[in-house]
Amino acid sequence: MPEISVLVLHGPNLNLLGLREPEIYGSTTIEQINQALYSDAKKLQVGLDCLQSNHEGILVDAIHNARQTHQGIVINAGAYTHTSVAIRDAIAAVQIPTVEAHLSNIYTREEFRHHSYLAAVVVGQISGFGADSYRLGLQAVVNYLNR
Ligand code: DQA
Repeated sequence: MPEISVLVLHGPNLNLLGLREPEIYGSTTIEQINQALYSDAKKLQVGLDCLQSNHEGILVDAIHNARQTHQGIVINAGAYTHTSVAIRDAIAAVQIPTVEAHLSNIYTREEFRHHSYLAAVVVGQISGFGADSYRLGLQAVVNYLNR
């Protein structure tokens, strides 16, 4: 059993990756992203679980439950990034090192996407590298935990 296990959380509308605004989010599906992450996790010798939900409370519950099971989190909270004090408070409460990931560069887009409620409670943020943002996020959280 690997000592480190990472939880990857995908927020609302990310189940539609591949179909959803491909000019912004690319053509890679969430299944393909998760496959790449499982293969990276194997190479990094860490455990990995991936969960997608369109519901804020389910994401909050998953963050709470991670206390028993995971040492690191990578989260793309989707639109909840810009609205959710509840997800921010959950990350702050559990104190599990968390990396925030976004496919698009949220700072080059509409003004309302420039503010992240999560930014102040995460270890760091990766934004703008498409599907690779998740892979970079996984690498970053594992490096952080191994430090
Ligand atoms: C996103 C950016 C958010 O602004 C948006 O609401 C999303 C996806 C991204 O991965 O680029 O749903 O988090």
